[in-house]
Amino acid sequence: MSKRTVVTMPGDGIGNQVLPEAIRVLNAVGFEANYVHGDIGWEIWCNEGNALPERTIKLLAEHKLGLFGAITSKPKKEADAEIKPELRGKFSYFSPIVTMRQKFNLDVCLRPCIGFPGNPLNFIRKKPSGGFEEPPVNVVVFRQNTEGLYAGVEWTNPPAQVRDALATHSKFKAFANVKGEDLAISVRIITRAAAERICRAAFEYANKFGYKNVTICEKPNVLRETSGLMEEMAKQVARDFPGIPLWSTNIDAQTMWLTKNPEEYGVIVASNLFGDVISDAFAGLIGGLGFAASGNIGAEVAVFEPTHGSAPKYAELNPSIVNPIAMILSAAMMLDHIGENDKSNLIRKAIAGVVAEGKVRTYDMMRIPGGAKAISQGAASTTQMTDAILYEVEKVQARELAAAVR
Ligand code: NAI
Ligand code: MG
Repeated sequence: MSKRTVVTMPGDGIGNQVLPEAIRVLNAVGFEANYVHGDIGWEIWCNEGNALPERTIKLLAEHKLGLFGAITSKPKKEADAEIKPELRGKFSYFSPIVTMRQKFNLDVCLRPCIGFPGNPLNFIRKKPSGGFEEPPVNVVVFRQNTEGLYAGVEWTNPPAQVRDALATHSKFKAFANVKGEDLAISVRIITRAAAERICRAAFEYANKFGYKNVTICEKPNVLRETSGLMEEMAKQVARDFPGIPLWSTNIDAQTMWLTKNPEEYGVIVASNLFGDVISDAFAGLIGGLGFAASGNIGAEVAVFEPTHGSAPKYAELNPSIVNPIAMILSAAMMLDHIGENDKSNLIRKAIAGVVAEGKVRTYDMMRIPGGAKAISQGAASTTQMTDAILYEVEKVQARELAAAVR
């Protein structure tokens, strides 16, 4: 088979620190690929007036596989102020991530929230009998990535036709006299096809990896139309997977139950905003931003990225102190996606080994403030964490080789 080409888009800030670490790990587990650099992010916006330039879109269209670090984004005023003077007023800032998702219809967002035993950041729970217990969290969230409240159809001071159309709905009477400039509206759009695709992706994943249930997390008792359609499609798809029970929870109740019995959930599927919320909530139980990986998966193109942003306050630190694990886990998800499961499992085993041993920990894992002092307080640098993972890769490989020979 010819070598894969992966488009690497480190972006801004710590994206540039963590992405190269992931490539070191990919090399160590024997993944042979060509890497081509794709520009994305704030600096590109400031210099060119487009945070996701056409040349990067072309690379993704051609190679279909991307690894993305993180970008910086700022409010409209700052976007307009920081762009090169000669470009000022000619361009408007759009989020390159949202643009990428829409351009390639990366409609399935996959966010595993799987705790590594021994991670000091894992959620613990008080036992009624005294003492504490650490419930094993192994939840994979499927978030619809292109529609819902993030579809971008919104107005402040909506045009007359929009107001007229809304006036045809009896519930709009309550707002009929609100002045335009005092009225903001976001439209929640759910299509049957996309709802079916995310629900099917969730069930197929549960089936493939042996998850015990799928939960549709919406609010159909109130959002009768949009959450109603999500739930209807989940029920319809569930019929094709008779061995996997479908549970239904409301987003509000789900966040309350989150800490009560997180170990009982398997795959969770939700529309865009609710999926965003619930995946962050579950990620908080397994270590937070240093551990939260994600994939944006379309029918053709897929891009993998840590959930965290560019963390500008740590971007200039040398050595870098941020945790590379979220980025490395994102690279492992990329390997899963292309069927290189032996290599991705090897990466996860190595991370599990380092976390369980507990000798090498980045500042976030020590619960100390980040900053230049973290290293002198015993925190591992970004590179030291990766080195520990690479060393563990060798140990796991040696162990498995010995077991095979036996
Ligand atoms: P952030 O995720 O960059 O940082 C939040 C907090 O988590 C900070 O205290 C940071 O130091 C810490 N943190 C982040 N990644 C870490 C890691 N790998 N290891 C250890 N600690 C880590 O979010 P923030 O500060 O709200 O936003 C900074 C910039 O990033 C903004 O411009 C924002 O728009 C952008 N952003 C981009 C995202 C993306 O590219 N997908 C996602 C979130 C924010
Ligand atoms: Mg989020």
